[in-house]
This record gives sequence, C-alpha cells and structure tokens, in this order.
Amino acid sequence: MAREVVLSGMQPTGKLHLGNYEGALKNWVSLQDDYDMYCCIVDWHALTSMFNETEQMKASIFEMAVDYLASGLDGEKCAIFVQSQVKEHAELYLLFSMIIPIPWLERVPSYKEKSKSLGLDSYGFLGYPLLQAADILIYRANYVPVGKDQVAHIELTREVARRFNGFYQEVFPEPQAKLTKFAEVPGTDGRKMSKSYENIISLADTPEETAAKLKTMFTDPEKLRMGDPGHPEICPVYALHKIYTGEGLEKIAETCRSGELGCVADKKHLTESINDALAPVRSMRAELVGHPDVVWDVLNDGAKRARDRAQETMDMVRSAMGLTYDS
Ligand code: TRP
Repeated sequence: MAREVVLSGMQPTGKLHLGNYEGALKNWVSLQDDYDMYCCIVDWHALTSMFNETEQMKASIFEMAVDYLASGLDGEKCAIFVQSQVKEHAELYLLFSMIIPIPWLERVPSYKEKSKSLGLDSYGFLGYPLLQAADILIYRANYVPVGKDQVAHIELTREVARRFNGFYQEVFPEPQAKLTKFAEVPGTDGRKMSKSYENIISLADTPEETAAKLKTMFTDPEKLRMGDPGHPEICPVYALHKIYTGEGLEKIAETCRSGELGCVADKKHLTESINDALAPVRSMRAELVGHPDVVWDVLNDGAKRARDRAQETMDMVRSAMGLTYDS
C-alpha cells in the first residue's frame, strides 16, 4: 500500500536554533519512518522578503541542510531538497494563479500584517501562500507539519485543492495541518526564541558559547539574590530545564522555591543538560561542515526524487486541464 505523504517546508534562515529544533525538526524526524516525506527548503519564499540580499542564500541553505542532517533527518528516508531545484512548483503556482481570486489572497491574515510591518508590496508577496499551496499540492501531500501561525495557509491550500478538483478532475487530496505540540522554547530574554529577537541558542553554538548565553539569561525577576525564594513556573531557565533536564527536575523546582538553589548554579546545571543533549548533533554537524559535497549530494538526490513525484502530479494536472498537446 502506498504510504501517505508529508510535506514540510522552512525558509532558509541559516543556522537553526533550539526553537526550530524542538518545535519542528524533532517532529519531522519522528515522521520520516512512517510517511513518504518531503522536506523543502523554500528559497523562493525567502525572496519575498530578502530579494535584495541574495548573496546570503546559498550559505543559508547549506547551514540549514547541515542542521537537518545533524538533527537526524535521513536523506534516504526523506527527500531533502531546495524548492527552486524543482521547477514544477513554479508551473503549478502559475496555473493556480489563473484560478484563484485575488481577494482570497488579500484576506490571508499574514498578508495584511506583514505587508504593513515589513513594508512588502510585491506581486510575489501577495502570492506567498499560493506558492506554499503549490509546494504542498505538487506532492499531493496528506499532511503538513506546521505551527499554529501557518494554519491559515493550510486552509487556503485546501480551498485551492477543492477549487481545482471542482473545475477539472479530482487530482489533489485536501491536506491537513499536523500541529506540533510542544511547549514554546523561550530565548535568553524570556520571549519566544526567535532569530529576529537575537535571543537564540543555535545548534551550531559551541558549549562555551552556550554557557556564555545562558549566563545572561533572564530568570524570575523576584529572585534577586541567592536565598530569595524563586518561582520556577514563571522562570524561562526552568522552562528550558523541563525540556533538557530529565532527572532531578523536581529537586530543581523545590530548591529554587526554598531559596536554596541560586540562579548561577541553576544555569550551570542547565548548561550541562543542554550541552549533553546537543553533543551528538554538534559532532555530526562538525563532520558535515567538513564534507560539504556530502551535503550537496543529499540535496541533489532529494531534488531528483521530489522531481519524480512533482512531474507525475504535473502530468495529471495538465491532463485534467486539457493542456496536453503532444499529438
Ligand atoms: N510559510 C512557511 C513558514 O513561514 C514556509 C513554507 C513554505 C512552508 N512552503 C511551505 C511550510 C510548505 C509548510 C509547507 O514557516
């Protein structure tokens, strides 16, 4: 029996941080054994906001692919590839652009928010979610693992599929979001970990860099000195302990509350937990960075496999639309 298909995508932002790792990558790794899986690095989507700083793109793609592989994504089980290497995404996007009303795109919440806050006004930016729909539907995907912020885009994708199937023939399944359930990973300033807040711990950081960043991390604001009772439930350091410190978690909470445990010692402990957890990822990372050809080979091979599936879909699409002129 054919396995169900999962498609996931991320913009090439370069090195990934713990938020990306806990929030997305670990979930992807767990899916690759059970699904026919495609992991797409969406360089065209990145152009909607960084069209005038393209010199970073290649390095960002490389770093991201390295992080994927170091985190346990397996290029044999999962087609890891770059969007622009599979031109069929663009063809399907173009055909969709003919059948989707502009208001469908204008009412996607991220369009209004980001066009204002980022000052984006390109035609491609309006089409962002339609290109995303093409990314997903070109593989006839059943599931898309994403965070809450992407649910509106998946809903649009379902509407696009429905409209196409209704006009022509049943080609596309209606894909579903597979929401990642995980506690939000706090950054060093206590806000959600995010590259734009400059509060991240990267998979690529050295153990020393990790220690230095954690030293400056925000804690319970009422615990000013050792001896003051703390409130682990509101402390971002404790939120990271919950993810990375297996045994002894209860004791940390207790001794923090009683005032016995000071923040300095507590952060040292967390540093060890995180560095232990990341040690295998980091050593594989270093290995891959030393062998860039291996990484590019994975991406080229992934693109080949993705293209096979995408071409199959495009044959179905052209035939459904009556666009076959071979004879
Ligand atoms: N819009 C997604 C994000 O910002 C990235 C993306 C592009 C994507 N194409 C996709 C995600 C297809 C899932 C499936 O995170």
